Amino acid sequence: MDCIKLEQYIASYVGDKQRIRHLYATAWQTKELVDRFVPSIDPEMGYLVGLWHDVAREWEDDALLAFCETHAIAMKEEERKYPLLLHGPVAAYLLEEVLLEKVPLACQVAIRWHTLGSTTMGRLGAALYIADYVEPLRNYLTLQQRQELLAKDSLEQLCLQVVLNHKDHLRDRGKKMATSTSALLDFLEMGEEFPDA
Ligand SMILES: [Fe+2]
Ligand SMILES: [Fe+2]
Repeated sequence: MDCIKLEQYIASYVGDKQRIRHLYATAWQTKELVDRFVPSIDPEMGYLVGLWHDVAREWEDDALLAFCETHAIAMKEEERKYPLLLHGPVAAYLLEEVLLEKVPLACQVAIRWHTLGSTTMGRLGAALYIADYVEPLRNYLTLQQRQELLAKDSLEQLCLQVVLNHKDHLRDRGKKMATSTSALLDFLEMGEEFPDA
């Protein structure tokens, strides 16, 4: 599966240059994590989901909601309330539309859940969720914090730390964690492991 069609689409439709840099940085970071932690999956699939995950991030709330309603995409309550979160499900849907070929379900699931995280996002999804947070252009992490995170021994431990950091960030802003993220936190704290897909 090659990414040329995706790269051309991004060059044409994603306006913000910094977002384009984030897409490429997340692509490389996801590929690296898949290579390290998910031997059953081709690292190029990591590159693909990283490259595509935020392709609908610049859409207006109304457009995201309308797209999901038109295409009968199931939405969580939080996603209806904060439609910005729907850029994940919309990007997942757009993947095959733009590639004009079937992609493994694991890719769509990973992209669909990158915003909230989920116990069902699979190992590819976990790699993307982590990469989105730790990619090297993220300036909220110091080099040392990034290195400490990436020094974790397993995908689950790394994901747990990312969710805990997210929880602290929400607490500082007086916000509540989404139900899907909170279930993910419970799952990881209980020592569960992600399925391959
Ligand atoms: Fe995103
Ligand atoms: Fe992102």
